[in-house]
Amino acid sequence: MSFPLFMWQLVRHPKTISAIAPSSKRLALQMVSEITPETGRVVEIGAGTGVITRQILAAGVKPEDLSIVEMNPKFCRALKVRFPDCNVLEMDAQALGSLPLENVGMVISGLPLLSIPEPVQQNIIDGAFALMVKGGKYVQFTYGPKPPIAPEVRAANGLEWRMLKKVWLNLPPAMPYVFSQKS
Ligand SMILES: C[S@@+](CC[C@H](N)C(=O)[O-])C[C@H]1O[C@@H](n2cnc3c(N)ncnc32)[C@H](O)[C@@H]1O
Repeated sequence: MSFPLFMWQLVRHPKTISAIAPSSKRLALQMVSEITPETGRVVEIGAGTGVITRQILAAGVKPEDLSIVEMNPKFCRALKVRFPDCNVLEMDAQALGSLPLENVGMVISGLPLLSIPEPVQQNIIDGAFALMVKGGKYVQFTYGPKPPIAPEVRAANGLEWRMLKKVWLNLPPAMPYVFSQKS
């Protein structure tokens, strides 16, 4: 059911989805590879049909410690059915900074960040770092050759970054990055 739902929503909302297929399991595994027992609460943004969500839970995050942010109502309905014990929030990720959540150690993003206008990108990244504890990590993949957060937005938040392993078995191949604030 996930794939037809994804493709149908892609036809209806190409700008907000901006991907030709859901992420592969290999990419989802890379996206969760920084999770440890000390991570604390995790917030996933742009969850789509939940391919990364499933791996976040498999990595050991308890359902009650995972909040899922998605703005597409059809995806939200499916996510609530698939992950009934998680906190599914139908909202724009630009409002991340106002969420009443504590001890958030990681934000994992499936958003098509580079196709999002820069002011919107700025709101999302500002909100993510305002929400997280000191030392929090923001994980984001990209299909392109450059870091998936615009240079101005990185500078405004004092971000440094690392690349994880490139995932060739994904359509198209993708590179996950981890961003954190310089100490
Ligand atoms: C490329 S899909 C990724 C879906 C899934 N995470 C995956 O990797 O297959 C991007 C998702 O981000 C959602 N999205 C786009 N802009 C958003 C925003 N500003 N706030 C919340 N969700 C957003 C879309 O509705 C879509 O589900």
